[in-house]
Amino acid sequence: MRGKLMVGNWKMNGSLAANASLVTDLLAGMADVKCRAAVCVPSVYLAQMHSLLAGSSIDLGAQDVSVYASGAYTGEVSADMLRDFAVRYCIVGHSERRQYHGESDVTVASKAQRALAAGITPIVCVGESLAERDAGQTEAVVKRQLAAVIHANGHCISEIVVAYEPVWAIGSGLTATPEQAQHVHAVLRAQLQAATAHADRVSILYGGSMNAANAAELLAQPDVDGGLIGGAALKAPDFLSMLKTASR
Ligand code: 13P
Repeated sequence: MRGKLMVGNWKMNGSLAANASLVTDLLAGMADVKCRAAVCVPSVYLAQMHSLLAGSSIDLGAQDVSVYASGAYTGEVSADMLRDFAVRYCIVGHSERRQYHGESDVTVASKAQRALAAGITPIVCVGESLAERDAGQTEAVVKRQLAAVIHANGHCISEIVVAYEPVWAIGSGLTATPEQAQHVHAVLRAQLQAATAHADRVSILYGGSMNAANAAELLAQPDVDGGLIGGAALKAPDFLSMLKTASR
């Protein structure tokens, strides 16, 4: 079976001191954690986290990767650079990148391709806005977003992780109900099944105001294989509590 995967997305938060304190607290509580765990940190802190997490059971993740391999792309970070810091996961296509940085489905698919080529597991984010949900377009939107990634990465699509993050649930305190999440996860699973015989291997995470209080009922859904957690992953007791819930 897939086992649960819980990933903290720190977004643009942290400092050398705050990161060290958070990770020290997390590592001290990992004895009872049986699920897979990772933290996706700002790229400037990859070196710090590479050294603090070395040999631990928390994997290191990045939040973005360049579509380019190397060269004159000021400000960009390549997949091979991430690999230098033992980065295991890289978020691609987070709604904040789609929304504030104009990333298209094709860009996101290229980023997933770069990550895979470097041996990094892309965590491909999909999700609808509130207007799209209200217009009955949820399935069409997430399928379009995932289709672009399948199209560009068909041969190794079972190597990706998918994160369903309804935009209206991110940072809003509004969480998809377990039924809403399961419905979309099942749609995504079916789409993966049409593309690969190994769709059962793909972890489909839920993200959007997941917290210590609501994680259990979301994680109880058959196609919810873990979480991509923002705010609650910045507090060690909360994240540890969710990791323990996912370990049951
Ligand atoms: P919140 O958990 O803060 O809603 O963020 C979710 C998210 O965007 C994770 O990538």
